[in-house]
Amino acid sequence: MRVFITGASSGIGAALAKHYAAQGAQLGLVGRNQERLTTLSNELGANCAIYVLDVRNATALQQAAADFLARFGAPDIIIANAGVSRGTLTEHAEDIAAFQAVMDINVMGMVHTFQPFIAAMKQAGSGSLVGIASVAGLRGIPGASAYSASKAAAISYLESLRVELIGTGINVTTICPGYIRTPMTDVNPYPMPFLMEPDTAARKMARIIRQKRRIAITPWQMAFAGGLMRLLPAFVWDWVMKKAPYKPRLDWDWL
Ligand SMILES: NC(=O)c1ccc[n+]([C@@H]2O[C@H](COP(=O)([O-])OP(=O)(O)OC[C@H]3O[C@@H](n4cnc5c(N)ncnc54)[C@H](OP(=O)(O)O)[C@@H]3O)[C@@H](O)[C@H]2O)c1
Repeated sequence: MRVFITGASSGIGAALAKHYAAQGAQLGLVGRNQERLTTLSNELGANCAIYVLDVRNATALQQAAADFLARFGAPDIIIANAGVSRGTLTEHAEDIAAFQAVMDINVMGMVHTFQPFIAAMKQAGSGSLVGIASVAGLRGIPGASAYSASKAAAISYLESLRVELIGTGINVTTICPGYIRTPMTDVNPYPMPFLMEPDTAARKMARIIRQKRRIAITPWQMAFAGGLMRLLPAFVWDWVMKKAPYKPRLDWDWL
């Protein structure tokens, strides 16, 4: 099995890399942090290629894809998982850069990840493109406007892509996780219901991918809550969310 994962240097991506390495997969691992990626690939001892790059850079991903295709051949699974989350408020001028970064990484990063592989996967007539979206993309979460908008865009983008690829043998899976314990959520100052450990999440996600589900929310408790979220009329949503705590607006050096 050949698996290409972005955002593999931390959290969910690292857990997915470990999961697939244990199954003997050949891996392409993408992230910006060379040290963490190298440590992970040494720890996995698997047949790994690491690509230190920013998913905002389409050319860098095209070069990584060309290298992966030459080394291993067309991937069976591509997981566009790299993502960032920060609190944002539209009234602050300095948050405009954060909006831009969140949209570029969480949405365009996904497009840049899939694009250079599609021709080879069409030729192979198989493979799964997997996008990690979020329950936060199902409704607008106050204080996380950029993140919610980026994940809503990802969900719609993945749906378009899924239909475009019908008949090619390539399937597209959208995964909307609830809360998973990673550096992304470690900063959240509020309670996180149904919080999952990353290795549990990776196991559940791998099952969803294996089943070629079109869209799945995990864990099941969040799927239930997410279904409810989508059904609520706007005035009920406003009433429920108006007192919700906000994701912190943190440092800007991550941009
Ligand atoms: N944790 C949750 O509760 C949760 C819930 C729903 C959805 N998600 C989604 O799951 C995905 C993974 O999140 P996580 O919780 O595992 O967070 P994390 O531990 O912060 O990991 C994020 C990963 O994305 C990579 N990344 C970020 N910006 C990048 C960029 N510009 N170019 C390349 N790589 C980049 C990071 O790599 P470097 O550090 O090396 O840059 C890191 O490997 C994200 O898309 C997130 O939105 C998470």
